[in-house]
Amino acid sequence: MPFAYVNLDLLDANIRAIVSAAGDKKVRVASKSIRSIAVLRRIINSDEVFQGVMCYTAREADFLIQNGFDDLLLGYPMWDKSEITNLLRAADRGHMIVFMVDSIQHVEHIEKLAATLGIQAAVCLDIDMSTNYPGLHFGIWRSPVTCWSQARLIVERMMQSKWVRLEGVMGYEAQIAGVADHVAGQWLKNRLIHQLKRRSIREVMKRREEILQGIQALGVELRFVNAGGTGSMDSSRLERGVTEITVGSGFYSPTLFDHYTGFQYLPAAGYAVEIVRKPRVDMVTCLGGGYTASGGAGIDKVPQPYLPEGLKLISLEGAGEVQTPLRCPSGLQLALGDPIFFRHAKAGELCERFAKLYAISGEVIVDEYLTYRGEGECFL
Ligand SMILES: Cc1ncc(COP(=O)(O)O)c(C=O)c1O
Repeated sequence: MPFAYVNLDLLDANIRAIVSAAGDKKVRVASKSIRSIAVLRRIINSDEVFQGVMCYTAREADFLIQNGFDDLLLGYPMWDKSEITNLLRAADRGHMIVFMVDSIQHVEHIEKLAATLGIQAAVCLDIDMSTNYPGLHFGIWRSPVTCWSQARLIVERMMQSKWVRLEGVMGYEAQIAGVADHVAGQWLKNRLIHQLKRRSIREVMKRREEILQGIQALGVELRFVNAGGTGSMDSSRLERGVTEITVGSGFYSPTLFDHYTGFQYLPAAGYAVEIVRKPRVDMVTCLGGGYTASGGAGIDKVPQPYLPEGLKLISLEGAGEVQTPLRCPSGLQLALGDPIFFRHAKAGELCERFAKLYAISGEVIVDEYLTYRGEGECFL
């Protein structure tokens, strides 16, 4: 200890549940939420529904190619010239790599690099899918493209170019996919979020449809239309124009994905730290454990003690850099050296803390899966 693990029985059950939730859509695996080649392979090889990877940096895309992956969609715009050039060369060797753009500036940047090499670059247009209510921006801040009139200018600019080809459209409705609406003790807030989501789903569908019709009317045939995330499979699969849904977090199912009305995946990954002292008869203190998740700082980003059941963090200390004290439920006897199992709040970030995941089936460690970190890689 400390060590991280993935429970293959639970992971496989989550894979099966995600395959069935996809309906007739393909699933693109969000690698940021996996961060292990072995786990990515296990997921992608398990079913034909899986269609390539949404990766998160150009260097990661290169690493995935070296490991035999193909059909890579860069989920976010890239700017580094040498990294883009490197991937353009890989595309020229026959790999399917699609760059993300949301502005004419992005298009012209890639165009210039592609023209220098004499290679055509495949790109995907990122559409903003947030909803604005009076006084509330319900969504995230990423693409500035919020409607067809804005998208049209970029699409037309691409159509004028010999070096850039529009292959796909992506719209990530984070306010539906990434906001829990079934949190214990928050009945009113849950109701409100649920209502906001319902309205937002209708708007997202309309916006995507308008943009897809506009693109079609210009005579561009798209290879794919990407939507969603783990938390929006129910609505994304109902959209006619959508061909694939991105899913990452649902496979490990960290604590942030415990509180949704539409689904409940199984806690497939976590980590263990060792009890090294007992400050009081009803408390234990573990060595380390403070692997807090990214995003707006809040209690929901803190890892949670998982097993044995009933242990509670101390609010003033939380999960600590070197020590994590826990309050024990009455009757629970724990000794120095015992493990305490925790779950991370986010999926892939766990793998940035550990070199490998013990792969467990039943009660046996059946394998060891290297994480990106274990392979000596650190992309973001
Ligand atoms: C572009 C994009 N698509 C999809 C997702 C959903 O990923 P996950 O299923 O891990 O929530 C994300 C997550 O941030 C994202 O950035």
